[in-house]
Amino acid sequence: MTRPLLRVKGLGKTFVLHGQGGLSLDVMQDLSLTLSPGECQVLVGRSGIGKSTLLKMLYGSYRITRGHVCLHFDDGDLDLAELPAHAWHALRRDVIGYVSQFLRCVPRVPAVEVVMEPLLMRGSDPEEARCKAEGLLERLNLPQRLWELPPGTFSGGEQQRVNIARGFIGEHPLLLLDEPTASLDATNREVVVELIQAAKSRGVAMLGIFHDEDVRERVADRLLPLDDYMPRPDMNHCEMHRGEASQ
Ligand SMILES: Nc1ncnc2c1ncn2[C@@H]1O[C@H](COP(=O)(O)OP(=O)(O)O)[C@@H](O)[C@H]1O
Ligand SMILES: [Mg+2]
Repeated sequence: MTRPLLRVKGLGKTFVLHGQGGLSLDVMQDLSLTLSPGECQVLVGRSGIGKSTLLKMLYGSYRITRGHVCLHFDDGDLDLAELPAHAWHALRRDVIGYVSQFLRCVPRVPAVEVVMEPLLMRGSDPEEARCKAEGLLERLNLPQRLWELPPGTFSGGEQQRVNIARGFIGEHPLLLLDEPTASLDATNREVVVELIQAAKSRGVAMLGIFHDEDVRERVADRLLPLDDYMPRPDMNHCEMHRGEASQ
């Protein structure tokens, strides 16, 4: 049995809505999971249950309110709940990749450069990075005439393919996927399934959200129903109290 790469224990999230007089919203309680290299676990549950919130906590976009998120390395473990802010940059560069639901478009940056950036941040050779980026865009059937254009005006599906190429190019050991196939046609969904399967065989650990049942069945080693980690009914779901800052 492979040693887990990620171990989440007792994870909880409370949002504090400062614009609403400090109203607090409990969205997750006592979630635990372990994820091993080469394994793909799929988060399931109705819209609003907290799937994206979980991925954002693991990527450091949302603060962890309660619990521990341990990454295991050969030379020791790291608890992301206690990671100082300055350490996230290196972690995202080298360890945790993320395909967000929507591409964050930076004006004037051509699609191919958006895709190659994760490699450049690691000091890769620019020509090699460009070559790899073009290979991925070609594989994802993004027309070559778009490669040198900024993706701001691309269709949803085109932007998502740029996003997927950017997420997979870095070959991070842990990859978080937030509905990467939601706006893709069947041909490109198939390419994404192949990219995920290839990443699995390289030993990449993945945690993903996929609404398409066919995709889910083909990539998932295990389903993680988030309904099991809703705050208990006896907890005040929307109780007023002025708590710690949370996002
Ligand atoms: N930044 C935020 N501030 C306040 N509430 C949030 C924030 N992000 C998400 N939520 C709330 O957390 C709950 C879970 O949202 P989300 O994780 O996006 O759900 P899912 O991805 O499962 O559809 C929702 O009720 C949502 O409104
Ligand atoms: Mg979501």
